Amino acid sequence: MAIFSSRTFSLKSGGIVIVRSALPDDAQAILDVATSVLAENQFTLTTVEEIKGLQQQVERIADMNQAERAIILLAEVDGRAVGAADFRCGTKKRNAHHGDFGVSVLKPWRDQGVGHALVTTIIDWAAAHPDIEAVRLSVDPTNARAIAVYRKLGFVDEGVLKRSVKYEDGRYADSLLMRRDV
Ligand SMILES: CC(C)(COP(=O)(O)OP(=O)(O)OC[C@H]1O[C@@H](n2cnc3c(N)ncnc32)[C@H](O)[C@@H]1OP(=O)(O)O)[C@@H](O)C(=O)NCCC(=O)NCCS
Repeated sequence: MAIFSSRTFSLKSGGIVIVRSALPDDAQAILDVATSVLAENQFTLTTVEEIKGLQQQVERIADMNQAERAIILLAEVDGRAVGAADFRCGTKKRNAHHGDFGVSVLKPWRDQGVGHALVTTIIDWAAAHPDIEAVRLSVDPTNARAIAVYRKLGFVDEGVLKRSVKYEDGRYADSLLMRRDV
């Protein structure tokens, strides 16, 4: 069962952010973070209309917490959710040694170190797992802030999927694949 108790990180502003496993009771907080970030409609694959509802979030969190090679995290400042992340390994025997993550931080809380704290927690959790060998992600190559977080934490480029995202207005975006061995 992949429940992570909590970790504390310093924010650039001087406060602290607590990163902990999200629990089913945090479903509304997870939903609120996702809705706010996806409503920006930039750099994310999922559209705001595709967000799962509250009950599905409860079930998703419970499922992630039950899984042995998955983790779902909430970042809190003064008891308020400011960011979230999730990581899951492949579900086949032959791809269970690595996984992908997604990470979101509310706009007013960016550039404070919250993203760094969430991704650090995923890396350290994966590194402590005896069977996980690498953490992966896919990012819009123009998402400079996200790429800065990943490079600083040791992720390297693996390749580019051309035109892998198609926006509603017909524009395409590539996806940069990045990996960090743990
Ligand atoms: C990507 C995201 C999770 C990062 O979270 P965050 O809390 O802002 O990240 P941090 O504060 O830890 O770090 C941001 C870093 O980017 C740097 N940065 C900010 N804007 C930048 C830019 N335009 N170019 C280069 N670096 C930039 C900051 O200086 C900081 O680096 P530093 O710690 O070396 O000073 C957050 O911006 C977000 O949720 N974005 C929208 C959703 C998204 O893009 N998710 C990722 C999809 S792969």
